[in-house]
Amino acid sequence: MFKTVIAGIGHYVPKNVFTNNDLTRYMDTSDEWIQERTGIKERRYADRTGETTTTMGVEAAKMAIEKAGISNNDIDFIIFATLSPDYYFPGCGVLLQRAMKMNEVGALDIRNQCSGFVYALSVADQFIKTGTYKNILLVCSEKHSFGLDFSTRGRNVSVIFGDGAAACVLQPTQEEGRGVLSTHLHSDGESAEILAMFNPGTHANHWLEQKVANFDDAEMGEMFMSHQMIDNAQNFPNMDGPTVFKKAVVKFPEVIMEALEKNGYKPSDLNLLIPHQANLRIAQFVQQKLQLKDEQVYNNIERFGNTTAASIPIALSEASELGKIKKGDLVCMAAFGSGFTWGSALMRW
Ligand code: ACO
Repeated sequence: MFKTVIAGIGHYVPKNVFTNNDLTRYMDTSDEWIQERTGIKERRYADRTGETTTTMGVEAAKMAIEKAGISNNDIDFIIFATLSPDYYFPGCGVLLQRAMKMNEVGALDIRNQCSGFVYALSVADQFIKTGTYKNILLVCSEKHSFGLDFSTRGRNVSVIFGDGAAACVLQPTQEEGRGVLSTHLHSDGESAEILAMFNPGTHANHWLEQKVANFDDAEMGEMFMSHQMIDNAQNFPNMDGPTVFKKAVVKFPEVIMEALEKNGYKPSDLNLLIPHQANLRIAQFVQQKLQLKDEQVYNNIERFGNTTAASIPIALSEASELGKIKKGDLVCMAAFGSGFTWGSALMRW
């Protein structure tokens, strides 16, 4: 049986830096509040007209493919994880396949929000281990800035998120002591509405306690997206932040320990933990709970905000560029987010 290695990794963040003070032009907030609650100082926003989730993914993919020393035509499967796709459908996978003029290979889209990278890696790992594919391109990209409520009404969500992309080329190896050791995926749909964007959607109010439109009177087309839904901010992410926070600080350590114990390791054995960059306070809580040293945890949320699916691979790509990960290092990646979904992956780099 093969193991999965990251043969090349790259990331791309837009040039446009948006500081906490920049946000105060649109909403009632402050640099002090945002830094104290989230650790974020600034984030990147995509160019308003020239960049999409897919085009940012393409930039990251080019870097990953170059680092792997292969060409676009060597890619035999594409996995694209995002919650902010260019179109409602089709997904970004095929748009990237077209933009990069790739062969007619399979393109799978993953919708697991902040857990997108860990879920995607787990799927890719199954294909690689079984020898099905030899060069999987895994792309994670988010253009949040187009879909946030920049008024004071949306400030608890909008200040957190940033745009960016990352990609990696995954290959099989039989080299002893390298590769993905295990992945662990979980979900709890009881909390689906705690962090969600409801419309456009086909739910027809079925799941929502608070009804947003009178469907009896609605024109067929308005059931998907009506003026009332927009008035009620249903087209923006909705989040009960404190509930997310409380669940995250339990599930992060749990799923990291699950990965370590499955492979006979303890937290002190870790060379690097890359937690999904949800909130610096969550990452610090997890670090403290597992008694990890500062050099065992990599965070970059202060510069990029929460880039959802892209956050772990952007951090992984940066850490690798900075020489913070060496061949053979024990690296754990863990995520928690909307769904709720959460998961972890443990690998020898
Ligand atoms: N600026 C100023 N004040 C604000 C802001 C803001 N940006 N946002 C909220 N407030 C106010 C609230 O209105 C509230 O005021 P009130 O007391 O007068 O009612 C007060 O601050 C406290 O609000 P809380 O929501 O209780 O603030 P909290 O301390 O919980 O911090 C935060 C909010 C940062 C969102 C936090 O709950 C959090 O990080 N939660 C986790 C979010 C997360 O990790 N999401 C990741 C998953 S994302 C994904 O999967 C897509």
